[in-house]
Amino acid sequence: MTSDLDRLVEQARSAFSAAVQSAALENEKARFLGKSGAITERLKALAGLAPEQKRDAGALINAAKGSIERLLAERRQALAEMRLDQQLAAESIDVTLPGRARSVGAIHPIARTWIRIEEIFRSIGFDFAEGPEIETDWYNFTALNSPENHPARSMQDTFYVDAHDGEGRPLVLRPHTSPMQVRYARTHTPPIKVIAIGRCYRVDNDATHSPMFHQVEGLWLDENISFADLKAVYTNFLRCFFETEELAVRFRPSYFPFTEPSAEIDMMFTNGARKGRWLEISGSGQVHPNVVRNFGFDPERIIGFAFGSGLERLAMLRYGVDDLRMFFDGDLRFLKQFV
Ligand code: DAH
Repeated sequence: MTSDLDRLVEQARSAFSAAVQSAALENEKARFLGKSGAITERLKALAGLAPEQKRDAGALINAAKGSIERLLAERRQALAEMRLDQQLAAESIDVTLPGRARSVGAIHPIARTWIRIEEIFRSIGFDFAEGPEIETDWYNFTALNSPENHPARSMQDTFYVDAHDGEGRPLVLRPHTSPMQVRYARTHTPPIKVIAIGRCYRVDNDATHSPMFHQVEGLWLDENISFADLKAVYTNFLRCFFETEELAVRFRPSYFPFTEPSAEIDMMFTNGARKGRWLEISGSGQVHPNVVRNFGFDPERIIGFAFGSGLERLAMLRYGVDDLRMFFDGDLRFLKQFV
């Protein structure tokens, strides 16, 4: 009897430890302690024994039952701990991993230049306008008094788009912002003070030219203004932009089809590290009477002054960049310096 019960306890021990899932363990429990389990069967069998024997045998069977119940409880506990350990291992976080850094963006130097120019001109009462980068022949050339044989009209200078306007003339990627003078003037009445900033395109690519670049166009139309007004506005703009009074400006005679007279604006730092030579910074002039007529105004009454400057040129001088292409290479070593 004793050895039979001992064997039963040992069977239970190995059955329980073979069970690695709690469902399997509960099935094993039924085999020993369930309604028709081995222990239960033995207790039922006591019924046929004499009282004396029943008491002794009953005590032994109950002792074995107690042992099996303890083994079961131990195994339940062990399985629960195993599950917890597995879960902890699966969900563990390696706190020694380096963090995922979030890099800080910055405003691109050309965008900064744009914002700066816009702020300066708005502060002296100029409106701000933007217009299409794909332009019609009329706004881009004809309205601006550019003759049929003007070099800007050639394929070598201008990107043509494979599409046409209502008159069958090819559309162009605007090579300058000057068509914005026409667009704005035809929808406003003098006095007009406006700047337009935007992307322009030309068949050009070297250290100081890129096929896509930016210009700021300025237009001032009124009855009683003179070249002196243009000179004062532009000189003050440059002094604000470069944050120095030590800057000389000169207007050098030049030619543009849409201005008469026309001038190239040169500037020179007169002191400090950048002191040196004259630098060409902008085209300018008094708006040609034909162009004023194309605006829809009487050139006998309304006179206009205009300028067009490259943003890249201004940015290069302000930040000391000597190759314009760096602005568009996307090299973070360059761009990070503007954070
Ligand atoms: N549009 C000219 C260019 O891209 C620059 C220019 C010259 C603009 C004279 C003007 C101007 O408004 O008056 O070369």
